Amino acid sequence: MAEKEKLEVLLKVKEKYEPPKEVVDRAWVKDYESLYKESVQDREGFWAKVAEELEWFKKWDKVLEWNYPYAKWFLGAKTNITYNCLDRHVKSGKRNKVAYIFVDEDNNERKITYGELLELVSRLANGLKSLGVKKGDRVSIYMPTTIEGVASMLACARIGAIHSVVFAGFSEGALRTRIEDAKAKVVITSSYTKRRGKRVDLLPTVENAIDGLEFVEKVVVWDRDGDTLSGDSSKFVEFYELVNSSSPECEPEEMDAEDPLFILYTSGTTGKPKGVLHTTGGYMVQTYFTSKVVFDLHEDDIYWCSADIGWITGHSYIVYGILANGVTSVITEGAPDYPNPGRWWSYIEKYRVNVFYTAPTAIRLFMKYGEEWPAKYDLSSLRILGSVGEPINPEAWHWYYKHIGGQRCVIVDTWWQTETGAHMITTVPSYPAKPGKAGKPMFSVEVDVVDKDGNRLPPDTVGFLVVKTPWPSMLRTCWGEPERYEKYWNTIQGVYFAGDLASYDEEGYVMILGRADDVINVAGHRIGTMEVESALVDHPAVAEAAVIGKPHEVKGESIKAFVILKKGHEPSENLIEELKLHVRKVLGPVAVPDEIEFIDKLPKTRSGKIMRRILKAQELGLEVGDVSTLED
Ligand code: WT7
Repeated sequence: MAEKEKLEVLLKVKEKYEPPKEVVDRAWVKDYESLYKESVQDREGFWAKVAEELEWFKKWDKVLEWNYPYAKWFLGAKTNITYNCLDRHVKSGKRNKVAYIFVDEDNNERKITYGELLELVSRLANGLKSLGVKKGDRVSIYMPTTIEGVASMLACARIGAIHSVVFAGFSEGALRTRIEDAKAKVVITSSYTKRRGKRVDLLPTVENAIDGLEFVEKVVVWDRDGDTLSGDSSKFVEFYELVNSSSPECEPEEMDAEDPLFILYTSGTTGKPKGVLHTTGGYMVQTYFTSKVVFDLHEDDIYWCSADIGWITGHSYIVYGILANGVTSVITEGAPDYPNPGRWWSYIEKYRVNVFYTAPTAIRLFMKYGEEWPAKYDLSSLRILGSVGEPINPEAWHWYYKHIGGQRCVIVDTWWQTETGAHMITTVPSYPAKPGKAGKPMFSVEVDVVDKDGNRLPPDTVGFLVVKTPWPSMLRTCWGEPERYEKYWNTIQGVYFAGDLASYDEEGYVMILGRADDVINVAGHRIGTMEVESALVDHPAVAEAAVIGKPHEVKGESIKAFVILKKGHEPSENLIEELKLHVRKVLGPVAVPDEIEFIDKLPKTRSGKIMRRILKAQELGLEVGDVSTLED
C-alpha cells in the first residue's frame, strides 16, 4: 500500500478492545475520565498528593513555579531518589525482596535483593567519593544493561553526581562527543558486553574515546573476567576492587528537588546531540506514578522492560520509576533472538512475568519468526503488555495481543520522549485500547494537535503534537545550550513542540504518526539525519551527503544516504562498504545506512539547505509538494 492510503486506513481505525474485568478490578485507576478532569483542574494539588506517597527529607514550599518556558517543581523540597528507590523499601521490610533478576545470553542468572543493591550502591558511591567525585560532577556510564550498570547510575544519584549514560552500542566517536560535552570527571565502563554469543570489547573504545581528554581523571572498569586490566595506567580502577574497599554505608546526599539528576543525550536536527537535563523531584514523582498506574504495579508483580539503560526507557522504566515502586524486575543483556527466538518467551514462562514492556520493532522481528515460538511457552502470567518508542502498526498490535497476550492482556501504548522523562499519552488499563492509537493524555497533561501557527485542528486531521502546560518530569534545559531548550517552547508560541505528527479522534484518543523533523526512528532509536551526514562527510572520499528515513518492515524506518564523492573518487561496492564501516566506527551500528547511493547533485534551497523531503518523496514515489524554495 502507498503511504498515503496507509494513513487513510489508519485514521479510520475504530476498533476497540475492552480491558478484561480482572484487570480493571485490581487497577489503581478505575475511572480515568474523572481523575483526569480533577488532575487538570488542580494540577498542583494532584501532583502534591502523588508526591506524598514518597519520602522527602523536607517537604516543598510550593508545587510549581512556571516562568515560561522554565518550570520548577516541588520548590524547596529535599530528597534523594535512591532513598525512595532503595532505603525506603529496605526499611519497610523488603530487604530480602529481589530487586532485579539479571539473565545473560547463556541463561546465567543473578538475583540481587533490595538490601544487597543498597549495599552495592552505597559502596560504589563511597568509592566514587574516594576518587574525588562530588555533588554536581558529571560521570559518564558506558555499560551494558546489568546489575553493575544500574548500580553505577544509582551510585551517582546517591552522592548527587550527574550521570550521563551512553548506550554501549555507540562507538568511539559518539562516546567521545558525549564525554567531552559533559566534561565527565569519571567514566564507568565494563571490559566487555556480549551480543549474539560474541564478546564485544568496550574498554578499548573508552580508551580511544578519552585519549587526550585531561579532565577525565579516572576510569572505573568492571573487569568481568578479571583478565583485562593490566594496571599499567593510573587512570584505571577496577569496579569490584573499588566496591570491596569502600564502606557499605553511605548517607544519601540531600538533594534539592531541582538539583540535576542526569543528562541523557538525544538526537536533534543538528549534527550535535542535545544533553537533555532532568532534575530530581519532579522526575521522581512522575516516573514513580506512571510506573504505578500505567503498568498497574502491585506488590507481587514481576515486571520486565526489555529496553537498554542507555536510553530514557531504561532510566525511567528499568531503574527509577520501577524501583520507586519496589517491585521485582527482570533485566537482560544481549540480543532478543539469540540463541533462538524463544529466548524472551522462555523468561516470561520461567519468571512468571506479569507486565512486559517492549518496542514495536521487537514485536515485528518476532512476527517474522512466527507464532510457533511464543506458542511453545506458558505466557499465562502476563496481564499487561506495553509498547514504546515508535508507532505500533495495527498488524503488530494484533499479533502482540493474540500471540503474546493470549487475548486476555491489556496493551498500553505509551507515547513519550527523552525530553518528557515519563509517559505523556498512553492507554491505562481501565479503559479500552484502540490498535495503533496511543490513547489519552496522562493525568494533568494537556496535549493538542495544531497547525504551525498553533491553531487547534479538527479531529482526524494530521498536525503537530504539542503539550500546553508544564509537567513534573519535563526536561529543564539542554546541557550548556539553553537556546536549544527554549526552541521546544517557541517553535510554536507558548506550547511545547514535541516534533511529532499526530491526530486525535472524537473520543480523544491520540494517534502518533512519526516525526515531523529531520529525525529518523530506527528500531525505536532516534537518529539525527545531520549526525549521519556529518559522519559520512568525515570520510576523505565524501564531498556532501544527505540522509533520509525509509519505511522498513521490522525496524520501522531504515537509513538511506545519498552521497556526492570528491573529485578523484569513483563509486564502487567497496566504497559503499567502507563508508558503512566508517559510520559504524564514528557513531555505532544503529546509525549505519542500509543503502548508500552515489549522486551528482543534491536538491537544495537557495540558501543552501538540503531539501531532504524532496529526496524522500522521490525515493518513495510520493508527491513532492511545495518546491518554490528549491534552487534548481
Ligand atoms: C520519539 C522519542 C520514549 C522512550 C523511547 C524513545 C517516538 C515514542 C512512541 C509511541 C509513537 C513514539 C516519537 C517520539 N515515540 N513512543 N508510543 N508511539 N511514537 O525516546 O528516543 O526520546 O524518542 O519516539 O517519535 O518523539 P526518544
